[in-house]
Amino acid sequence: MSENSPGPSPAADSADGSANLLEVRNLVKHFPIKSGILVDRQVGAVRAVDDVSFDVARGETLGLVGESGCGKSTLCRTVLKLLEPTSGSVRFEGTEISHMGRRGLQPLRREMQMIFQDPFASLNPRRRVGQIVGGPLKLHGIASGSTLKRQVQDLLERVGLNPEHYNRFPHEFSGGQRQRIGIARALALRPKLIVADEPVSALDVSIQAQIINLLEDLQDEFKLTYIFVAHDLGVIRHVSDRIAVMYLGKIVELGPADEVYSNPIHPYTLSLLSALPIPDPRANAEREPIVLEGDVPSPADPPAACRFHTRCPYATEICSEVEPELVLHDREHWAACHHPLNRGDPHAAQEALAKPDRDSA
Ligand SMILES: Nc1ncnc2c1ncn2[C@@H]1O[C@H](COP(=O)(O)OP(=O)(O)O)[C@@H](O)[C@H]1O
Ligand code: SF4
Ligand SMILES: [Mg+2]
Repeated sequence: MSENSPGPSPAADSADGSANLLEVRNLVKHFPIKSGILVDRQVGAVRAVDDVSFDVARGETLGLVGESGCGKSTLCRTVLKLLEPTSGSVRFEGTEISHMGRRGLQPLRREMQMIFQDPFASLNPRRRVGQIVGGPLKLHGIASGSTLKRQVQDLLERVGLNPEHYNRFPHEFSGGQRQRIGIARALALRPKLIVADEPVSALDVSIQAQIINLLEDLQDEFKLTYIFVAHDLGVIRHVSDRIAVMYLGKIVELGPADEVYSNPIHPYTLSLLSALPIPDPRANAEREPIVLEGDVPSPADPPAACRFHTRCPYATEICSEVEPELVLHDREHWAACHHPLNRGDPHAAQEALAKPDRDSA
């Protein structure tokens, strides 16, 4: 995989000679399943992330999508070393961080921040907003006293909150405002990479667009690189430059966002797309959505070969016998499937979706 890495090709003009801020190779995170009363014995493993490789270019937004439980959060936390990887490599600005200890990671922690799905659970209810947002600045010895207060108030203002609310507690804010507090905290140390793990999934639809717009504005202003996680393709369509689709611990498709939406290669991506509402009610009624059969299998005992074969409408014998590799189909468009869609017949998937207005969504 290293020779044909699923990401943008290296460019010579950036500081470390690569256009990539982040390079992830063969990353694995298994959670042991233990049993036994007196002595813990490992009897299996939840294969939450299983051999995942991708790059993230400086300044881009990589959308990461897949059903709940497919390993998105585990992947994000392992990439940021909030979880210890089972194996594999993570390079941030060319530096290998997967084996680094706490002290080595300390200066890099500033550069990589996370925004969480549930802003209420991720904010300490007993701390005032000023302490929450200013905490990282204080911890890293960047500001104190009146400078700290001014910097925090600037941040609050920048994310659309009233700087006078510096002394309030999280419960005094609405869900959308609380997510703005989480964003201000993530922004405080001027990171290069922000991993936003379903940052709008817990918010009302009317608030979602406001938060997404804010994140987009901040990306331009602070030259941020994002990994933006969502469980459906609708939310991340407009913010993502590229999209990675995950199924049961693996990336099954990765490519430029427009390509993934208009010419999906993997049947699982097609099923996610077919679940999206399309604006034209007539077209919506006419199309036949791809309904997946069966439940999502357990990552503790994933199906052999292609993990999607138990639910895939296109599966044949080979799918349960040989694992399909993630291969490059077009420029930067990767997929892992023995029977790729949209290759021979460029209109096959479009017809399957009957989606005349999807592009204007
Ligand atoms: N700390 C943990 N211990 C054991 N299993 C875990 C742990 N965290 C996550 N998992 C399991 O790993 C799988 C992937 O979970 P997660 O990464 O949260 O998925 P997603 O974010 O896509 O919903 C799930 O089966 C989940 O139950
Ligand atoms: S390899 Fe086979 S089972 Fe897997 S997605 Fe492709 S067609 Fe479906
Ligand atoms: Mg998650």
